[in-house]
Amino acid sequence: MDRQLHESLDVLQRDPYPGYERARRAEGLTYVAELDSWLVSRDEDVREVLRRPDDFSSANALRPDIMPSPAALAVLGGGFGGRPVVVTADGDLHRQLRAPIVRGLSPARVEAVLPYAAERAAALVDGFAKDGHVELMTAYAQRLPGDVIGRIVGLDPDDVPAVVHGGYRAEELLFRPLPEGEQVAAARDVVAMQHKLDAFLRDRHAHLRQDVASELVVSVAPDARPGELSLDQRHALVAHLQNFLLAGHLTTTALIGTALLHLMRHPDQWRLLCAEPERIPAAVEEAARYDTALQGFRRVTTRPLTLAGTKLPAGTSLFVAFGSANRDVLRHARPDVFDITRTPGRHLAFGLGAHACPGSQLAQEQVRITLEQFTRRFPDLRLAEERPVTMRPTMIHRSPEALHLVW
Ligand code: HEM
Repeated sequence: MDRQLHESLDVLQRDPYPGYERARRAEGLTYVAELDSWLVSRDEDVREVLRRPDDFSSANALRPDIMPSPAALAVLGGGFGGRPVVVTADGDLHRQLRAPIVRGLSPARVEAVLPYAAERAAALVDGFAKDGHVELMTAYAQRLPGDVIGRIVGLDPDDVPAVVHGGYRAEELLFRPLPEGEQVAAARDVVAMQHKLDAFLRDRHAHLRQDVASELVVSVAPDARPGELSLDQRHALVAHLQNFLLAGHLTTTALIGTALLHLMRHPDQWRLLCAEPERIPAAVEEAARYDTALQGFRRVTTRPLTLAGTKLPAGTSLFVAFGSANRDVLRHARPDVFDITRTPGRHLAFGLGAHACPGSQLAQEQVRITLEQFTRRFPDLRLAEERPVTMRPTMIHRSPEALHLVW
């Protein structure tokens, strides 16, 4: 990708909504060079793609926006992974990879982790409550989801920061234009995280427990005796767990950030929420719809077909924009208005169909817990006026780069 295309990708990522609107109004699908894909922008078309996984494969769902340099790839070669993961798998393999995750995130397991999530949320808030100001992303939003997913996976809490850091470095490496030296450094951090996950999974294999990691281990190596995981199984397990961790914490961090950002930009709605906290679940839904954390994932056609009147040969890449569907006026009245009092419509922030998000309950509960803490403890919370907010340039974890709040 050349520099000009990088720059226009940045512009699109920081504010994709005007482009979505043009695409929703246009005939057929719109080709977007920055995404190297056809944009699927209307609610109806996004649903159709998600309901036809045999025609629209997920094989390219995690295709990097930027291919790492040969030196960075060589470093990555010393790590683990490179195996199919649930978001990029289709058919039987997809069902096989998804089953332990769905078991690991059952409503009962999520319910069981909520007291810990509430306790962590309160402790993080205690850490800055007396200061009168906070940068929310680093002090809170990047920390709670990592702690919670670490708990649900069964990680040692001391390992969580390195694992969260590795997740961010993987995202930077694959989705941001980094100079060569920084790519190599990011690849080293990713590999360090993978070795940590490998050691953890081998230990779990020897001592199974009631956690997600044990579910993954049993599903990948049902017959292996303790200490006898093959190298191939270790690669498969690390890829599986790394994908699960990234899918779970970066997205939730993003939604915590955007939920508070939009509530702060609408002080009347913040006051309403503080006065009537029973509205919090509806506020979480509206934040997820209005500024969707996972803006879209790619799909690739498995045969020649026509979508929304556009003919597509086999092997065509599509960018399926959940974030655009959620602003479609044919599905949501006044879609560009943030309104926590609206009757929630069926949005697509957590996808639909075979790949629909298995962690949506866990994510929403964490935003709920966050809003309960903040409405109760900081009713006069507001944006720090002198610190304008910019959004991170990403289509997969849309959030403020920093969010300075005062009270
Ligand atoms: C605000 C937070 C979240 C958002 C917006 C979100 C959104 C999504 C979306 C849209 C998909 C569908 C992708 C597709 O169709 O290709 C998805 C899949 C997935 N999500 Fe989430 N998610 C969030 C939180 C979580 C959490 C907390 C977890 C785990 C703890 C999680 C785990 C997954 C996994 C494993 C998949 C892949 C499922 C499959 O391919 O079958 N997500 N998520």
